[in-house]
Amino acid sequence: MKITARACSNIALIKYWGKRDTHLNLPAVGSISVTLNDLHTTTTVDFNGQYNNDQLFLNGRRSGPEETTRVSAFLDRIRRRAGIKKYALVESENNFPTAAGLASSASAFAALSLAAAKAARLEISESELSVLARLGSGSAARSLFGGFVEMKQGEKDDGSDSFAFQLYPKDYWDLRLLIAVTSTDKKKIGSTDGMKLSKETSPYYNQWVASSHGDLTDMRDALKSRDFQKLGELSELSCLKMHALALSANPGLLYWNGATVEGIHRIRALRRQGIEVYFTIDAGPQLKAICEPDSVAEARAALEQIPGVKNVISTALGDDAEILEGNK
Ligand code: DP6
Repeated sequence: MKITARACSNIALIKYWGKRDTHLNLPAVGSISVTLNDLHTTTTVDFNGQYNNDQLFLNGRRSGPEETTRVSAFLDRIRRRAGIKKYALVESENNFPTAAGLASSASAFAALSLAAAKAARLEISESELSVLARLGSGSAARSLFGGFVEMKQGEKDDGSDSFAFQLYPKDYWDLRLLIAVTSTDKKKIGSTDGMKLSKETSPYYNQWVASSHGDLTDMRDALKSRDFQKLGELSELSCLKMHALALSANPGLLYWNGATVEGIHRIRALRRQGIEVYFTIDAGPQLKAICEPDSVAEARAALEQIPGVKNVISTALGDDAEILEGNK
C-alpha cells in the first residue's frame, strides 16, 4: 500500500477567494488556472501499519503538529472511505525551495490525494479525486490536471459537484509564467484565514462573488479564441479585485511589499513599449508575469532589475498529476 505521485503547482488567472462552506471547503466562486511544469511536489504515501499515528516528512524534515494534523485529518477521510485503519508514513518533497515563499498547498494536496487514494486502493473517478483534493485545499483540486483548468464552484451542499476539470491541455497554447520572488518570509495570514476574514468583514464581498461569473465567462472566451490580450487583462482584473477585497477586510489584508508594487508598474511600462506581458499575484508578495515565449527574455530582464526581486523562476505549462511508483 505504498504509492509515489507527483503534481505540479498552479496559478489562478481567475481567482478563488472565499468559501461557501468551510467544513467541506466549498468555494464561493469558480476559478481558472494554469498548471506550472517547473514547480512540483512528489509525495509517497505508505499505509504500512507500523505506526500509532501518521508520520509526515516535508523535504526530509519531520513536520510540526499543525501540518501533521491537517494531513492526518485528510487521510482520515480516505481511510473512512476505503475502510482501512492503518496509519501512514507520508514523505513529500518540493522541487522548488520551500523558503521561496511560494504557495505549495496546491501541488502538495494534489500529490497527496493521488498517492493516498491509490495506496488505499480507492476506486474513484477523476472528478471524485478532485473533490477529495479540494477537501485538503481548494486550489489543489485544480493541480490534478495539466494545462488550462477550471474549478467549478458547484451548487450542492455535499460538494459533489465542486471539482476541477481540464479546459485545454498544455499544448493548446504555449504560455509562460515568470515568478519574481520578492520575499522568502512565511506569510503572516494564509489563504484560509484571509478568505474567512474577507467574507466576514468586507463590504465588497457579495459584489466579488456576484462579479465572478462574468469573469469566468470572459476568460473561457479568451481561451477559446486564444486572445492573449484579453487573457492578460482579465487576469489582472481578477487579481486586483481579489486584492481589493482583501484590502477592504477589517483589519485590511495587504499581501504586497514594495517590490510587488514596483513590479506591477514595470509590467505595465513594458506593455507601453509594446511587450505583451501581464501580472497576477496570489496571497503573498511574489509577482507572477504571464507572457508568450517571444517576450520571456525581455520580461525576465525587466523583473530582475527591480530592487527587492531576489530571483526569477521561469516555467512553461505542466501536465496532469501522475503516479511515479507503485501500482498504476
Ligand atoms: C490566492 O487553495 O490555498 O491562491 O482552500 O483554504 O486551502 P484553501 O485555500 P488555497 O487558496 C488559494 C488562493 C489563491 C487564489 C487561487 O489559487 O485561486
